Amino acid sequence: MTHKIILDTDPGIDDAMAIFFAFQHPDIEVLGLTTVYGNVPVSMAAKNALTLCEMADQDIPVTQGVGMPWVGPESSYAHFVHGDDGFGNTFPEPSERELDPRSSAQFIVDMARKYPGEITLVAIGPLGNLALALRLEPELPKLVKGVSIMGGAAFVPGNVTPVAEANIWNDAHAAAIVFDAKWPLTMFGLDVTLKTPFTLPFLDKLEDNNEKLGGFVKRASQFYADFYSQNRPDRVCFFHDAFPLAHLLHPELFIIKRGHARVGTSELDRGQTVIAPEGSTASPLWTEAHKVDVAVDVDHEKLEQLFIDTYAY
Ligand code: RIB
Ligand code: CA
Repeated sequence: MTHKIILDTDPGIDDAMAIFFAFQHPDIEVLGLTTVYGNVPVSMAAKNALTLCEMADQDIPVTQGVGMPWVGPESSYAHFVHGDDGFGNTFPEPSERELDPRSSAQFIVDMARKYPGEITLVAIGPLGNLALALRLEPELPKLVKGVSIMGGAAFVPGNVTPVAEANIWNDAHAAAIVFDAKWPLTMFGLDVTLKTPFTLPFLDKLEDNNEKLGGFVKRASQFYADFYSQNRPDRVCFFHDAFPLAHLLHPELFIIKRGHARVGTSELDRGQTVIAPEGSTASPLWTEAHKVDVAVDVDHEKLEQLFIDTYAY
């Protein structure tokens, strides 16, 4: 079965690893990369997405999307995690290719109308493009197959504040709109992604299996591993963004919990994804909220082997 997807992304090193995984796997058809600010400014995210398509010889649309949060000032970006260039300061040769002239939100709406019920929106950055697409086309939840996101922290601490994960924190109001929409949404947050560290031998295997794409991921991940290995005895990094894609192909690897979801948008709870499992509360603030699926565990060994095998295709 081929999965038609649109990848909404802020590349970003783990974004790059995920994007190449999607390009490599024969059962995933990437209709386009829609970019958003987050790890880097949106103009850099768009340029980086074009570079990744060039590296992987993929001739698909790339669009530039929102560059600002739904509410509030410009983001501070995550160059301290992903490097000045978003690729661990490896500064790959930029692509000469042109962006698709549409905005990311418009592209999402156009594709959903063209392929009603067939597309999974896979969002691995802040959610402003999906929120804007919902405003452009209120029927969007009926026009897509589903939504899978890397973001949130349901039952574990956040990575930007004690309660908030970066993608949700970066655009909490947009996330609240996306979580409230009546579409099937599956959240791959820190609950599952931080449980699965990836070591340097894993990066060696990606490179052994695919010198060009795996080699790039390995080089870019050195800066990324420096960040993640501070205060750790071992040298690791986390490929958060590949989890929603692995689930598309092998849902049996994951443990999923369902619950009513709310997203915090005030100062203290900005970007907090509060998930109330069914029956866990009588508060209408949650019982009347949309239910989402949350990944809480994964078979790490099989997941790692899936990534390694797919890079070899
Ligand atoms: O918190 C991790 C998420 O934030 C990942 O998507 C990473 O690429 C950054 O966007
Ligand atoms: Ca990302």
